Amino acid sequence: MKTALVLNGPNLNLLGTREPAVYGSQTLADVEKLCEAACAQHGFTLDFRQTNHEGQLVDWLHEAGRAQAAGTLAGVILNAGAYTHTSVALHDAIKGTGVTLIELHISNVHAREAFRHHSYISPAAKAVMAGFGVKGYPLAIAALAGF
Ligand code: DQA
Repeated sequence: MKTALVLNGPNLNLLGTREPAVYGSQTLADVEKLCEAACAQHGFTLDFRQTNHEGQLVDWLHEAGRAQAAGTLAGVILNAGAYTHTSVALHDAIKGTGVTLIELHISNVHAREAFRHHSYISPAAKAVMAGFGVKGYPLAIAALAGF
């Protein structure tokens, strides 16, 4: 059984209380449950993580690259939070490992401030999802099953 690796970046641990008008009232634990259900449906094992540290995300992407080479990884769903808009290091980690990756945002970043319109992740990602709320996570897992 292959693994779906869901990586969450900075401030996503605050889901539920953080700007609920933008991100909704579900917590990250609720999101993990949605992902568990989607993985059960699509025959994946879920590996669900969150960090506030950019280098940790880089290390996890390297680990994902090794898992993909070993044939144990279905792909990565990455919500890099604000690092989306700043991180050349994440861009390089995705390119450098060749991981199959879906960039995900809970909110529609293109309908928000101009500084959220540029993504360093998008040119390295296989697909991009934004604006589906937390329901985007199970949709992204279903998409991984179709790759
Ligand atoms: C986000 C959008 C980013 O602009 C923001 O910095 C986040 C969350 C989203 O899920 O909508 O932290 O990635």
